[in-house]
Amino acid sequence: MRRTWVILGLFPFFAAAAQTAAPPSPVLRGAQIYLERCALCHGNYGLGEGMLAVRVPDYPDTRLVHDEDGYATPPDRIEEIIRRGGMLPDVDARMPPFEYELGTAELEAITHFVVLLQVNRKRAYDRLNRAAAALPADLQQGRRVFETRCAACHGREGRGDGPRAFLFRDAPPADLTASRLDRDAVLSIVREGGAVVGRSPHMPAWKTELTDFELRSVVDWVMTRRQRTEGGRDG
Ligand code: HEC
Ligand code: HEC
Repeated sequence: MRRTWVILGLFPFFAAAAQTAAPPSPVLRGAQIYLERCALCHGNYGLGEGMLAVRVPDYPDTRLVHDEDGYATPPDRIEEIIRRGGMLPDVDARMPPFEYELGTAELEAITHFVVLLQVNRKRAYDRLNRAAAALPADLQQGRRVFETRCAACHGREGRGDGPRAFLFRDAPPADLTASRLDRDAVLSIVREGGAVVGRSPHMPAWKTELTDFELRSVVDWVMTRRQRTEGGRDG
C-alpha cells in the first residue's frame, strides 16, 4: 500500500488514471441508490417532498433532513430502519424493508449517505447532484413527471388536450405527439420555458422546479410518445 502511494506521488499521471478507474466512493454510490430507490417518497433533497408523499393525502412526514435543532437519528438506527422498514413495530408500514433488495455494500453505502444528509447537508447535496448527473434518464420517472407536471395542459398522452388547455386559446399547449422539434430544442423549451425561446409564456420554465435527472427523463418520455405515434419524425 505504502509503495503504491510513493509511486503515485512520483507520477501524477498514474495517480489521475488510478482515480478515474476507481469505483465510486460509498457516499456517491449511496447518493445514486437514494435517487433510484428513496427519492420517490423522501424527495430529491430528503425534505419529505417526494412525489408520493406529496400526492397521497395524510402521508407520514418523510423528511430525512432535520432542522437546525441538532436532532439526528443515530446511524445504527438509520441502518436498522433501512434494512427492516415497516417490519419494525415502531416504523410506519409504508417504509419498505430493503434488506432483501440491496446487498451488504449497498446497504452500507445508503446508510452512509443518509447519515451525511443529516450531519452535512451541503456535502450530501453535492454528492446528490453528481449522482443525478451520472444517472441515465429513466422513462418511468419521465412518465411520472409528465403526469404530475405537464398533463394538466398537454393531456395525459401529450396530445394537447389537458383539462387546462382551454385557458390558452391564443397559443394552445402543443400536441407533443406531432411536435417536430429535435430533442435538444425540446429540452431547452422545457428547461427555459416558452418565453425565453420566443414562444408563449404559458409554457412554464421547469429548470428550478425539476432536477436535471427529471428534466432529461421527461424529455425522453416525450420523445418516445412521438416516435410511437409519428414514426420517429423529429427533424
Ligand atoms: C414507498 C415510500 C418509501 C420509500 C421508497 C422509502 N421510504 Fe423511507 N420512509 C417512508 C415513510 C412513510 C417513513 C416514515 C416512517 C414513520 O414515520 O414511522 C420512512 C422513514 C424512513 C427513515 C426514518 C427517518 C427518521 O429519521 O426517523 C429512514 C432513515 C428512511 N425512511 C430511509 C429510507 C431510505 C434510505 C430509502 C431508500 C433506500 C427509503 N427510506 C425509501 C417511506 C419510504
Ligand atoms: C400551464 C400550461 C402548461 C404546462 C403545465 C406545460 N406546458 Fe408545455 N406548452 C404549453 C403551451 C401553451 C405551449 C405552446 C407554446 C407555443 O407554441 O407558443 C407549450 C409547448 C411545449 C413544447 C413545445 C412543443 C412544440 O413542438 O412546439 C414542449 C416540448 C412542451 N410544452 C413540453 C412540456 C413539458 C415536458 C411539460 C411538463 C414538464 C410542460 N410542457 C408543461 C403549456 C404548458
